[in-house]
Amino acid sequence: MRVTTSEIRGMKEKGERIAALTAYDYLTARLVDESGVPLVLVGDSLGMVFLGYETTIPVRLSEVLHHTKAVTRGCRNALVVADMPFMTYHISEGQALENAARLIQEGGAHAVKLEGGCAMAPTVTRLVQSGIPVMGHIGLTPQSVHQFGGFKVQGKSVEQARNLIDDARALEDAGAFSIVLECIPAKLSQIITRRLQIPTIGIGAGPDCDGEIQVISDLLGLVTDFIPKHAKRYARLADEIRSALGRYVSDVTSRAFPTEKESFSIDPAVLEQIIERDADSSEIQ
Ligand code: KIV
Repeated sequence: MRVTTSEIRGMKEKGERIAALTAYDYLTARLVDESGVPLVLVGDSLGMVFLGYETTIPVRLSEVLHHTKAVTRGCRNALVVADMPFMTYHISEGQALENAARLIQEGGAHAVKLEGGCAMAPTVTRLVQSGIPVMGHIGLTPQSVHQFGGFKVQGKSVEQARNLIDDARALEDAGAFSIVLECIPAKLSQIITRRLQIPTIGIGAGPDCDGEIQVISDLLGLVTDFIPKHAKRYARLADEIRSALGRYVSDVTSRAFPTEKESFSIDPAVLEQIIERDADSSEIQ
């Protein structure tokens, strides 16, 4: 049975922790879904992790749409949330509705996520009233990286912290079913989490959120040159992959692979006729 947004909300009421993950392709989505994760995010982090952009800003709706289709094909149970890319929901509420509808209708997502607090509340209301569940995202919102002057922890001053509390409340009042808190002090997340009815999902926001979300490539150790402070590696797949690829190249170049075991046979009578015809044609030449 597919997890619903009300079940995600209900998990907070029951005190059940929510373990969420990102996924960007069919294969990974299948594995994540099989692990029992209730919420899968097709994050715009896909731009940095899988498309090689420096920030999430260049990510287009068509790219998130393409990856959302693959992820929804791979997820039988998890609720799939598609991220709305930069400037696909800021210009007008109508633009936001049109683009969110595409992620749901064409992409097969069950909800959308967008960045921003009080300023985005009217847009969230509009989407929710149109039947589109929305996940909020506040704190270090990567689409505002240029405004922040880098990927910096947010909410450290009294003013910033108060603004974030107001943002969280505004999103809840607007009808969001949950909120991502990214890279804010743990004590601030605790305050926000206690004040809200809807679940908070942290990333770099300490242990007191109602759930946690991580970027799959950080968790699996697919990236080795940089690991964010908030991430924990549960595998070292980059090392495994490098070693496997090295052995493959060595086997092919040394003729250790493929062997008869990986080859297909042919009826000897057929083979004889091919050889005969081949010999005839080379005689004509
Ligand atoms: O794009 C993303 O992966 C995200 C998560 C970090 C929450 O927004």
